[in-house]
Amino acid sequence: MSESVAIAGETKADRYRELLPQLRGLVDGEPDLVANLANIVAALRECVTAASWLGVYIMRDGELVLGPFQGKVACVRIAVGRGVCGTAAAEKRTVIVPDVEKFPGHIACDAGSRSEIVVPILRDGIVVAVLDVDSYDLASFDEEDAAGLAPIAELLGTLAW
Ligand code: SME
Repeated sequence: MSESVAIAGETKADRYRELLPQLRGLVDGEPDLVANLANIVAALRECVTAASWLGVYIMRDGELVLGPFQGKVACVRIAVGRGVCGTAAAEKRTVIVPDVEKFPGHIACDAGSRSEIVVPILRDGIVVAVLDVDSYDLASFDEEDAAGLAPIAELLGTLAW
């Protein structure tokens, strides 16, 4: 297996589209959840060039707990309904935050973070985790990211939670 993902597309939509089969290839035949999350997060980090932090929070006993990520040390536990991550989990919807200062209750793990997108990961309709991507720039994420990340979240939902 090659050490890196190959993403040449110029538009975000192209890049996400190119990444998806490579993510499938990364996890194919491997049952270990942590290994698969770690590799998916690493591959996604290469794809999403705007990301300053990218990782998952895993639902454990009704609370979101930090999982594999790329970036700076982050907050470990987030209550459902709190912050951007907890909101996405509580409402089972992707939350795009163009300016974190305008999102009431935003949890600042890294004071440099300016925008964020959080996508819930569902298995059988139940939130098992969220995918969180932060950026140091304002308005880094939009509907194109939401659309590109949706099938990736779907793939994540098929892992061995
Ligand atoms: N900003 C997130 C917290 C997680 S960190 O960004 C890694 C939130 O408001 O839920």
